[in-house]
Amino acid sequence: MHLEAIDWTQVSTDLDAYGAAVIGPLLSTQQCGDLVRLYDSGDENLFRNRVVMSRHGYGRGEYKYFAYPLPEIISELRTKLYEPLSAIANDWNDVLKIDTRYPSTHRPFLDRCHQAGQTRATPLLLQYVAGDFNCLHQDLYGEHAFPLQIAFLLSAPDRDFRGGELVLTEQRPRMQSRAEVVHVNQGQGVIFPVHHRPVQGARGIYRVTMRHGVSRLRSGTRHTLGIIFHDSQSDIPQMDFGWTLLHAADDECIAVGSVDQGFSGSGKHSEPPRHLKSAANAIRGADLPLWNP
Ligand SMILES: [Fe+2]
Repeated sequence: MHLEAIDWTQVSTDLDAYGAAVIGPLLSTQQCGDLVRLYDSGDENLFRNRVVMSRHGYGRGEYKYFAYPLPEIISELRTKLYEPLSAIANDWNDVLKIDTRYPSTHRPFLDRCHQAGQTRATPLLLQYVAGDFNCLHQDLYGEHAFPLQIAFLLSAPDRDFRGGELVLTEQRPRMQSRAEVVHVNQGQGVIFPVHHRPVQGARGIYRVTMRHGVSRLRSGTRHTLGIIFHDSQSDIPQMDFGWTLLHAADDECIAVGSVDQGFSGSGKHSEPPRHLKSAANAIRGADLPLWNP
């Protein structure tokens, strides 16, 4: 791992220009192989949950969320990469006139998540085989969201798999959406926005809504390591109808609105609003405890 070799000015420039920045390789072939082997190691204490994407309409393929304590290499990457990214995240909020500021080290930001009930680890291993894909989405898991995340490619393109490219889309206000396909080699990481980013336009800076996914794998097997810097209250990511059902027990629901709709913060509803009922309906069938409308 050679974090000191990363040119953070270049990362910032690439993020501003394209919405993505490739770093590394930070992981050796050996380290990539070791991480891939964790997936089927049978050590289920390593993971807190396995998600089969087709069951939730997320695509095809599967992933597992690590449990705390994280494997050391993942913990180290998450802690160390947070620090330079927090400076970029604060610059973004500054130009977007968003009040939230991120601490310069990860621990106090995690404390902020945990105090809000977002206590579950979010780093994850993803596994795709031929025909698998990941629909466009945003990795929001509660009120607190760090605006940048990293995906490390653990497999070697053309040797281990074909197809399966990371796809980012930018939904620009009153304009058509733009797509970016990011090619990454084994051991490299790609830094990209979780839900939005600032773009410099002719008449000032505006905000674009970002989504990401993975195109269909043509052959082989592809593993990635995803590092998300906020923790989770729920395993249900943001869905396109604009609301996330975070928790539902008895007759109490906690919901977070979509950033697209200008809603921030969370609220408790003894009777969920109508759009939340449709959210509950849409994800019904998931193996999750849901409020029953
Ligand atoms: Fe994701």
